[in-house]
Order: sequence, then C-alpha cells, then structure tokens
Amino acid sequence: MDLPLIRPRRLRATPALRNLVRETRVQPGQLVLPVFVRDGIDEPRPITSLPGVMQHTLDSVRREAVRVAEAGLGGIMLFGVPLDEHKDASGSVGCDPDGILNRALAAVRDEVGDDTVVMADTCLDEFTDHGHCGVLDADGRVDNDATLEVYCRMAVEQANAGAHVVGPSGMMDGQVSAIRAALDDAGHLDTAILAYSAKYASAFFGPFREAVGSSLQGDRRAYQQDPANRREGLLEATLDLDEGADMVMVKPAGYYLDVLADVAAASPVPVAAYQVSGEYAMLEAAAANGWLDRDRVIAESVTSIVRAGADIVLTYWALELAGRL
Ligand code: PBG
Repeated sequence: MDLPLIRPRRLRATPALRNLVRETRVQPGQLVLPVFVRDGIDEPRPITSLPGVMQHTLDSVRREAVRVAEAGLGGIMLFGVPLDEHKDASGSVGCDPDGILNRALAAVRDEVGDDTVVMADTCLDEFTDHGHCGVLDADGRVDNDATLEVYCRMAVEQANAGAHVVGPSGMMDGQVSAIRAALDDAGHLDTAILAYSAKYASAFFGPFREAVGSSLQGDRRAYQQDPANRREGLLEATLDLDEGADMVMVKPAGYYLDVLADVAAASPVPVAAYQVSGEYAMLEAAAANGWLDRDRVIAESVTSIVRAGADIVLTYWALELAGRL
C-alpha cells in the first residue's frame, strides 16, 4: 500500500498547531458597528427582528460610541430614524443640520473625537415618505441625477456635523464623484468616502426596514443590483474607484462572497463587506431555538467574510466579537 506523502492533518493535530497556521484572524480594529438613532424617544427601544440591537436615543448613542472606542473597534456607522411627520418626498430632514442623523453625528463626534471612526449612511430612504433611496420623477421613478444633488448637500452636512467618513448607499450612478466634488468644494478634503459599490436588491435587508421604520412600498430593483449578477459587482466597484472612492463595499456579505473575492482581488483600496440585518437575524433565530451553536456560527460567519477578502466588516455583532477576541 502506498502511504500518503502529504498529510495536511499533521498541522491540525493540536490547538497550538492550528493557531500557528491559521490564515485568517479577525481583529476588533477591522469591525464596524452599525447603529440606529431614533428621534423623539426617551429610552432605547429594542428591534423585534434584530434581537439585541436597539434604536438609540441621542444620549444612549453617545454611550454606545464610547463602548465602540473602548473596545478598539474600527468605527461606528450611524443611521437616523426620523419622526414620521418629518418625512417628505425629498427626504429633506436628512440634509437638515437639526435632523436626527446630523444631530447624532455631532453628539457622537463630540463624545469620541478621533478615538474611533465616525461614519454616516448617506442615503435618503430613512427620510423620504415614499421610502425610496432618491427623489422621484413625474412618473414615480427614482430620478438619478436629481438625487445626486440631494446626496451632495447631505454629505456636506454630515461632514459639517463631524463624520470622518460618508457612506453613499443609494446605488445612484455617479454618486461618488458628485459627493467627492461637493465635499471638496465645501473644504472637506479629508472626509473619506466609503462607497457601497456592489449593493444588491436583497431580501436580507428585511429586518433593517423595521429598524429604520421604513415607509417603502414596492422594491429597489431599479437601482440596487440583481442578485444573479456577479460580473456587474466588479463593474460597480471599478466605477466607484475611478470616481475616487477611498474604500469600496460589497453588501450583503455572506451570500455574496464570490463578488467580495472578485472585488478584493481587483481593488487597490480597502474593501468592506456589510453583514446585513437578515444575516444577523437568521443566526440569532436559529440559535434561540437551540438549532445552532450561537457563538461558533457568529465567529464562523465573520471569519468567512474576512477570508473571502474583506479588510473591514460591518456587523451588528462587532462589540460582542471584540469582547471575545
Ligand atoms: C440604505 C441601507 C439599507 C441598509 C443599509 N443602508 C437598506 C436598503 O438598501 O434597503 C440595509 C442594512 C441591513 O439590512 O442591515 N440606506
């Protein structure tokens, strides 16, 4: 009998050997915590479909930001949840310096300074009464170029409020170059752009809609990408790089690891991946039923995203993982 010459099992024999040869190590500094801040509430509110995640008040988000900095996380990504009566067709409360997102950015930046990276979601869907990521034309379609003008105002106000990084997530064509020019014109040369480059029209955003009290009827398939398209993810990332993106992102993460690996192989800038609300909710629900080992599936899911090529991972488990690492 021919004995095998090469025995990969040798390096799996003990925890110390496995530790020695481990290819992927997740570090707190590469994790970013997405956080929701809601106008008009006095106490943090749980989000039913995201167990363990809260809608924060302006006070409680300050404390959350301090936890992020103290845990050595890479950053905090803020989403605003306005009062329903402040929503309108153009999402104007998103551009208002007194709107909930800009107030939260200012509060968080005041609290943590440069101790962590303060990021803003630059998108209209939380602020429009129709729930779309842009303004609509006369036929009710999202008007790309009219939306860019609003994103430019929004990004400048977010930078004014203290965001280190703006994150355009609306999948309008040309959004990165438009925002870059607007930031530069306003003197915000150092505000970075994390481009949601390959963002798919995903059903895994479901729980996020509850988290932000979304008003959306219908879907986003006329601007977010078709989940069937891999090559197009690389096209979107390449366009954003040409437009001056400082970082590019793939979203969702776990079901799009092929797209993530393609983008990571081609990108000269850091690559982020967003482990979205549905990815979180699924594992939490299965774990709550005792069907999966919660701690292990969380670690495995994030490790797999890093293994596929993400330098940065946005995940609702960021604080918990940092505590374990
Ligand atoms: C758009 C935005 C969405 C998410 C992040 N930014 C929702 C959407 O595009 O429909 C989803 C994040 C998640 O599901 O965790 N502002």
